[in-house]
Amino acid sequence: MKEETKLHVQEDEKHLLLDHNYDGIQELNHPLPSWWAFLFYAFIGYAVIHFVYFQFLGGPSLRDEFKKEYAVVVAAQEEFKKQEGEFNPETYAKFNTPEHIKKGEEVYVTNCVACHLEKGRGDIGPNLTDEYWLWAKGTPETVYPIVFNGVVDNGMPNWSEVLSKEEIYQVVAYVQTLHLTHQPQGKAPQGNKVE
Ligand code: HEC
Repeated sequence: MKEETKLHVQEDEKHLLLDHNYDGIQELNHPLPSWWAFLFYAFIGYAVIHFVYFQFLGGPSLRDEFKKEYAVVVAAQEEFKKQEGEFNPETYAKFNTPEHIKKGEEVYVTNCVACHLEKGRGDIGPNLTDEYWLWAKGTPETVYPIVFNGVVDNGMPNWSEVLSKEEIYQVVAYVQTLHLTHQPQGKAPQGNKVE
């Protein structure tokens, strides 16, 4: 071996020198850093476990995971809806004022008159001015949930999908002003008499 070839091999690299020699050219074998090799084999191992778990051992699919997360969202929405649908006397007190009742009348004229007629005398929907009630009992806390949820099967729409919570409180406050006004030409009583 010539002097100048040897010059390139450091003293501490001698053990890396591979024992072949091509026309005087020799190579050093620098092993990969151990952290690199470790990651390389670790990822191969991970890929195998991943594949077996998700393909054969019933690991959740993306669709399953989506469904699970979506169920949480739906439950949260329902909880929110439920809370919104609960009558809150303090909120009602805030809306039971002349100017809110006036707004409530506007909400009523726009949304309710078609079925309950003006001043709540009743047509498709029951008379709201007598002491007879199908569901509610003439009080704000009993009228509110009916307006909020509707009685969809019987033709009373679910107003929580159309009106804001404020508008529902306003219209409930307005309906309260109709109660026991016994409008002329009102629809015949329906439901039970509430004392
Ligand atoms: C498409 C027709 C329709 C519209 C619009 C409508 N309602 Fe009704 N409403 C009904 C019917 C029908 C019932 C009776 C449901 C039943 O028979 O179970 C009812 C029932 C009610 C009741 C319960 C009455 C009772 O006797 O317990 C209240 C309160 C009421 N509606 C308020 C409203 C308000 C407020 C609005 C407007 C935001 C409104 N409704 C709009 C059809 C309607």
